[in-house]
Amino acid sequence: MKPTRPFHQTPVIAIDGPTASGKGTVAALVAAQLGFHLLDSGALYRLAALASVRYGVAADDDAALAALVGDLHITFREGCAQLDGVDVSSDIRAEEIGNRASAIAVHQSVRAALVARQRAFRKEPGLVADGRDMGTVIFPDAVLKVFLTASVEARAARRYKQLIQKGFSANMDNLLRDLRERDERDSNRAAAPLKPAADAKLLDTSALSIDQAVDEVVKWYRER
Ligand code: CDP
Repeated sequence: MKPTRPFHQTPVIAIDGPTASGKGTVAALVAAQLGFHLLDSGALYRLAALASVRYGVAADDDAALAALVGDLHITFREGCAQLDGVDVSSDIRAEEIGNRASAIAVHQSVRAALVARQRAFRKEPGLVADGRDMGTVIFPDAVLKVFLTASVEARAARRYKQLIQKGFSANMDNLLRDLRERDERDSNRAAAPLKPAADAKLLDTSALSIDQAVDEVVKWYRER
């Protein structure tokens, strides 16, 4: 019989970093190379943000938001995110939903309501988890913690390209302003602020291609 590991020994690679640092793409490719599951925790915050718009819950009403998040009916299937059984993969990528996700993510009650959903993604043979607090709060026992960074200009350029490719309109000056605002809010909030775990490896991707970043993370995992 195949030996099974206790749940807490299923390996997790945590990839955290600021907005548009490329962590989503890197995480997905690392997961594909290793045959691991993938958690895009930002998608959960985006789904919560979209639901708050649809159900008319204010972004500063933490009690109502936590109740909404606790009851969210969401599924991830073959790269599609569904809310109440409807594919919303494209809707949650809109920049205003990202900004609203960042606004509701400051509430400790909202974060707490998402913890169990995130930990449920930890399954054999392993998980790559992408977010802001994967290595610090959700999976503090991750076998590898990576903190991806890139200059604000490199990140704005990437986000611009991504939005245009997805058919959204985008303006570079507004993007730079929003990115700086989002960095500020994510880094300075009291609940799970964006910061590298003490044992995280830093990877600046400003001058790296996606493939180079992926190779580095896989190499660190194999060497650990
Ligand atoms: O795509 P981008 O990196 O801008 O954002 P995302 O990863 O999709 O997450 C959207 C927002 O959710 C972020 O700006 C964070 O404020 C919040 N978030 C968080 O607080 N904790 C996480 N683990 C993931 C996202």
